[in-house]
Amino acid sequence: MNGMLQTIMERRSIRKYNEKPVTEEQLSDILEAGRYAPTGGNCQTVHFVVITNARIREDLRARVQEAFSEMELSDDQYANIQNSIRLSRRGNYAFDYHAPILVVAANRKGYPNAVADSACALQNMMLEAESMGVGSCWINQLHWLDENPAIRDFLEPLGISNDETICGALALGNYDEKQPVKPRTGMRVADRKTEDYQDIINLPHHVSEHRPHMSMLDRAAQFSPFAALTGYDAAVKETARLTDRRMELNEEEQEKISERLTLLKIHLGDLPVVEITWFVQDERKTGGEYNTVTGVVKKLDEFHRILVMTDGTIIPAEEIVEISGVLFRSIDDTFA
Ligand SMILES: Cc1cc2nc3c(=O)[nH]c(=O)nc-3n(C[C@H](O)[C@H](O)[C@H](O)COP(=O)(O)O)c2cc1C
Repeated sequence: MNGMLQTIMERRSIRKYNEKPVTEEQLSDILEAGRYAPTGGNCQTVHFVVITNARIREDLRARVQEAFSEMELSDDQYANIQNSIRLSRRGNYAFDYHAPILVVAANRKGYPNAVADSACALQNMMLEAESMGVGSCWINQLHWLDENPAIRDFLEPLGISNDETICGALALGNYDEKQPVKPRTGMRVADRKTEDYQDIINLPHHVSEHRPHMSMLDRAAQFSPFAALTGYDAAVKETARLTDRRMELNEEEQEKISERLTLLKIHLGDLPVVEITWFVQDERKTGGEYNTVTGVVKKLDEFHRILVMTDGTIIPAEEIVEISGVLFRSIDDTFA
């Protein structure tokens, strides 16, 4: 493994920082790494605002908390935004984890590569920070609050103008502890080589020789009679049936589950007994129900992101909200 791959694979998002200051030289190198990121059409329009002043960060934190606590919660919101709203309403919401440095990345409004260019820059900075043992974490709350007038008013004197959009931010600082790297179970890589595609690349769209092509209108008409089959009683019962709301896990909780799945995978051969609770989406309504199963996991299928229990129960990894068992005793203390 070369040095760069090692740096990439050892980086973690750090959410707890210590008092040890990041030196000016380190910060300058981290920013330089950001400046040397690629940009679409070599536009070089990413604009970094570096906030090191503790008082300013504290005021910004208070504004962010206020902005989120005033926002409406809705079911179709991104789970992490819902989470920010909930935590803000409870008070003490530190969106930047009290990191000693916050770098805000802004870019020209309306420029199609605004976020992509900023992301390249932020990733370069995270890797440079990692290479010198400095912790970092992408912070997205200011991006979500891009159009919030109180946040814009606050950031304007710091140099972010109204023709710029806030694309993301980066917390930087030293840390005492780094959690183990999260396994990459998603981000699939197709294993077909380019030349393998020659057999399918120019295939014409399939048209049946036996059946005439059906229009969308006819298709809708064909299926509509089934809608009428549902009886009145069933409809009433269905309306009265209660469903649970899906509980949203915060990033730490998601991390905890992912950590446990990794441990479980390592010890699968020892047949440990685990208790798993997961959410099952209702097919007809918003919401669903929570199922819990206790037993032994037969297979952890990373490709389909499912767990198969020895009794045949299939559990989608994404829907797991809790997983416990003796196996996890060693890490339970870490997360207590
Ligand atoms: C676009 C983007 C937005 C993110 N936003 C946040 C955030 O607002 N707060 C946070 O704590 N982590 C945030 N993260 C960090 C992810 O949670 C983290 O990268 C992921 O859980 C994988 O963990 P790792 O970075 O330690 O490998 C963000 C990451 C990306 C790429």
